[in-house]
Amino acid sequence: MYRQLTADPSAERHRRAYSDRPGGYTFRLDDAELSRFRAMAENAQRHEDRLWSRAGIGAGAAVIDLGCGPGALLPVLARRVGPTGSITAVDADPVACAAARHVATELGTSTEVVCADATDTDLAPGRADVIMCRNVLVHNGARAGALLSHAAALLRDGGHLVSAEPDVDGLDFGAARAEREYDRRWAALMRADGNDPALGRGDRLADLLRRQGWRVVDQLCWTDALVIDRSPAWAAADAIVGRGFATAAELADWQQALERRRAAGPLRCSLTMTAVLAVPPGGSQSR
Ligand SMILES: C[S@@+](CC[C@H](N)C(=O)[O-])C[C@H]1O[C@@H](n2cnc3c(N)ncnc32)[C@H](O)[C@@H]1O
Repeated sequence: MYRQLTADPSAERHRRAYSDRPGGYTFRLDDAELSRFRAMAENAQRHEDRLWSRAGIGAGAAVIDLGCGPGALLPVLARRVGPTGSITAVDADPVACAAARHVATELGTSTEVVCADATDTDLAPGRADVIMCRNVLVHNGARAGALLSHAAALLRDGGHLVSAEPDVDGLDFGAARAEREYDRRWAALMRADGNDPALGRGDRLADLLRRQGWRVVDQLCWTDALVIDRSPAWAAADAIVGRGFATAAELADWQQALERRRAAGPLRCSLTMTAVLAVPPGGSQSR
């Protein structure tokens, strides 16, 4: 699937313009990433059902998935909003948009995929009952405020935001030492870009929203037990080495450790997520 998506050279050129800059999104989409996103999306709806229901993610709702990535959440959202609901999926990465479009064709819900920056989408204001934004603010550091004020404009009066972010600092790989070390460099790169890798820890996400004037209505924290092929940090390998947070020799060492560990079976790791239900500044009372 990933090879099909990157076969279009113009999509790859746009992706590079989007992500090959300090502060840009550092992950490369590939099959390992696609399966991780899908597993996380299925787990999310199980753990966050209370928040999603309070937000109004049910039959007939108009939902925007801001920073939709490869569209892992779309089948889950489509199951909830059904044929009378609608989904608008937004991402700045053309390769992610191509993957999301591919997913959208198989859904029985009206789904539009828009390739745009989440801080300025050109979508009509007030069109959404709910904005879902997950694993996105953690990559947006200084731009989080602009993203949240645009999200507020896209919500109808009485609409809700469901925001969920990981605690990347707390990723636990058990005995896989190379993965742990690699992850430490990734977290350092995130910090250098002005991101908080522990955004999904404690009250940090809720505090970020409150600082931007949002009212936090509900919040929960859960731990995702993932069985994955490799640490998510591998998706940021180009940026980690390209920007000097690890040497090519270190990467080669970690690659060998990865191959040895792979031979022993998949990697089990735990990742803590915090999900927050919020209403925008000046928004009316939530249900
Ligand atoms: C880690 S993925 C998460 C995808 C999806 N939300 C999920 O949880 O499965 C983050 C996605 O957000 C997108 N993204 C990050 N910042 C963005 C921005 N400012 N505008 C549009 N997309 C953005 C990235 O391109 C990437 O596809």
